[in-house]
Amino acid sequence: MIVTEFARNQWYVAAYGHEVGRRQLGRTILNEPILLWRTEDGRAVAMADRCVHRRFPLSESPSHLVGDRVVCGYHGFTYGPDGVCVAVPAQQRIPRTARLRTYPVVEQDSFVWVWIGDREPGDTLPPRAPWLVSPDYATVCGMEPLNARYGLLVDNLLDLSHETYLHGGYIGTPEVAETPITTEVDEDAGIVYVSRHMDDAACPPFYAESTGIKGRITRWQDIEYHPPCLYLLHSRIAPVGSPPPAADGTDSHAFHVEVVYAITPSTENSTYDFWAVARDFALDDEKVSDFLRDSNRTVVLQDVAALNTLEEVIAREPDRYQELSVNIDTGGLAARRLLARMAGDVPASQTAVR
Ligand code: FES
Ligand SMILES: [Fe+2]
Repeated sequence: MIVTEFARNQWYVAAYGHEVGRRQLGRTILNEPILLWRTEDGRAVAMADRCVHRRFPLSESPSHLVGDRVVCGYHGFTYGPDGVCVAVPAQQRIPRTARLRTYPVVEQDSFVWVWIGDREPGDTLPPRAPWLVSPDYATVCGMEPLNARYGLLVDNLLDLSHETYLHGGYIGTPEVAETPITTEVDEDAGIVYVSRHMDDAACPPFYAESTGIKGRITRWQDIEYHPPCLYLLHSRIAPVGSPPPAADGTDSHAFHVEVVYAITPSTENSTYDFWAVARDFALDDEKVSDFLRDSNRTVVLQDVAALNTLEEVIAREPDRYQELSVNIDTGGLAARRLLARMAGDVPASQTAVR
């Protein structure tokens, strides 16, 4: 079964930090309409995007910010960053219940993370993607909305054999689909690892044009999925015959690309597909940045088109349709299992299969 239940009491990426500013931004996350904005001293705030009076969205014009307050564009109810209403038209008394729900926010690695759930996050922090803000890497990024359930994007990213067919001419070559994967699951930490190491592969345009490598390559794809939201693809590209990484981890013969996705469910049938590509070479080369931005966006849009089609197919199919899974699906199946566990909000210790 494709996962459709949402995992609550988790961190989700709501936006990039650069999207949140002195203009309100509205996003729907796990069916909750959320308003994002920044106080005058630069703090990102997330609160319910529905006025308590007659539900007008505070992200919609003519709602607006005045200093550190949000003024509803319908009748002027005014809220502080703590969600408390501080002004109501034509009366001094402010009803006690006039307050908006606020959401815990962590700004980290260029993302604005919000906590969705009824419990408090406590010490729980979102997983990291440090390359996106590292001076040793250059990053391009974007976000594409998807008219498909988030489980389809999880499936898609955990099985990269589709690169050969769906992304030929960009990142796909025959070796991706031909090379078996290894899958490991850290049940306690709740992380899925999928690796595919190609010793001698054609270099797809995505890497040939960005690195300048002319011949065949050693290509490693090491996936780390931190459900529900963060997906990391550690990509290592080196000319065939280059020495492997040294014991201390240094790897000066290879090019490294960290491909990061944040998979944020919006509604049952729509998803935010945040993508970023960080590289440790040609750091100041704008042409390489432009090329990787355009190429990766094209690749993401190829996935978006395919997954939007799948969503339409699923909407029309009978309830008991049976999928067929094979070896390439072990990562995706492990991810589905962890997501189902999280959606049930069951502690890892009660469901771990060892
Ligand atoms: S709906 Fe916001 S003030 Fe009336
Ligand atoms: Fe893809």
